[in-house]
Amino acid sequence: MAKYSKLEDGTILTVKKSNQISKKIKLIAIAAISFVTLGLLCSFFFMKDPVIKQGYIDNTEHRFNDTIGKYTFMTHMQRYPFDKALEAIKSGNEAEIAGYRSLILDYLFEFNRQTPSVIPDLSCKKPVFKATCSEPIFSGKRDSPAKIGLLIQFGFEVDTLLIILHQYRDLVDKIFILESTRTHFKNTKKPLVWERLKYSPEFLPFSDMVVHLVVDDAPLAAASDDMWQMERYQEHQRWSKFVEWNKDTKYFTDSDLLGFGDADEVPSLNVLTELKNCKFRDEIFVVDVGIWFPMGTIYQAFRTDFPVEFTLPYTLGDPTFYTLAGAMKGGVPSRQRGTSAHHILGGMHMSNYCYLPTILLKDMTCTECGMFDKDNLQLMKERFFSNDSQVIQKWQQERCSVSHWGTRIIDVQQLDNNNRQAVSVPWYLECNKGMFPSWEHLPDSRLL
Ligand SMILES: *[C@@H]1O[C@H](CO)[C@@H](O)[C@H](O)[C@H]1NC(C)=O
Ligand SMILES: *[C@@H]1O[C@H](CO)[C@@H](O)[C@H](O)[C@H]1NC(C)=O
Repeated sequence: MAKYSKLEDGTILTVKKSNQISKKIKLIAIAAISFVTLGLLCSFFFMKDPVIKQGYIDNTEHRFNDTIGKYTFMTHMQRYPFDKALEAIKSGNEAEIAGYRSLILDYLFEFNRQTPSVIPDLSCKKPVFKATCSEPIFSGKRDSPAKIGLLIQFGFEVDTLLIILHQYRDLVDKIFILESTRTHFKNTKKPLVWERLKYSPEFLPFSDMVVHLVVDDAPLAAASDDMWQMERYQEHQRWSKFVEWNKDTKYFTDSDLLGFGDADEVPSLNVLTELKNCKFRDEIFVVDVGIWFPMGTIYQAFRTDFPVEFTLPYTLGDPTFYTLAGAMKGGVPSRQRGTSAHHILGGMHMSNYCYLPTILLKDMTCTECGMFDKDNLQLMKERFFSNDSQVIQKWQQERCSVSHWGTRIIDVQQLDNNNRQAVSVPWYLECNKGMFPSWEHLPDSRLL
């Protein structure tokens, strides 16, 4: 720093006396020196920061282009530098490990983003429901339909996003997708998924419906090692960004509805139709949706930890809908997991979706688990290099097994009439089961 300012002062002094040519040369020299100094300063700050630190990886020889169609999932993943990643893990160099962890997300995402190769059945149309307003939470029909906003956290569930956007069209007016440039787990860099999807033909029709909220690197630099802190932080951000958006647009008014949940907590068309057209009784401002939790295939039902009431053990009490006035009452509104005093039934928790690239991405990023270790990476490498699609199929089946849940999972046919009211498959999935065969634990042609 000292050297640089001295040089700058000195140069400016001499410039005054010198001719035009040497003035130019000196200006160029100043620019060059400033550039180098700035660069050094920047890298110095980067190195000092315990969170942003991430090893540079020369990936030139492994770069992929036109992956889709040219490579199978297996041959694509064979190009990930497994050996170098394993070396980095062995050496314990955290910055390098972070680099390879981030890189595998990018590799997996390349297949996760591929929309299904099966063409949607255009003759299968979205059903239209008529509101009855007969649920006890309602006092009657609204004079005009409410606007509905849905605020969701989003990770990597591209197939789920396609299904829910079809589900919500014409019923949900705005869907606020909160994404972060870093994962919950060790703040690893990750792609912003909506940014990469929004111009693709499947997603373009929904671009007016989606409001993209992004948590960028700046606040995350301050994140601590507490993995849950980031989730709480994101909930907070989701709300404050919404409030800011609505203050400017004035799009939602007091009696409109806001839903809070994860991308995979999907209310039925019937529930959305009722919420949109019916008036809550005066004292009610928050309602949970009791949804069915099939845990990976549409033929099952899971006894959840967060039912809407004890007689409905096979429901999960999310998402949660508030009137805007109710949500503004104070604090940060969020999903209530069945603890709200009121509920309405119908929907599907699209969790445990068994498409291998999505599962592996979740393994690599989820808050509770860190699967980027030597044993797991070695196993992945062996499987990807087996050149045997059966191995991939078996791997998927093994990862999707729910046998450890034992009797908490029953056949969906065994549900009693009350619990069965919550069961509802999103219409786009119902019409296009062939596009999403993992929901029936069948092989997905994208992986063959
Ligand atoms: C990527 O594209 C470049 C230029 O089109 C080509 O030379 C290269 O071989 C491609 N790489 C792969 C792995 O396909
Ligand atoms: C699978 O194919 C790759 C080349 O794509 C090769 O390097 C590897 O040895 C093969 N694995 C087996 C088990 O044959």
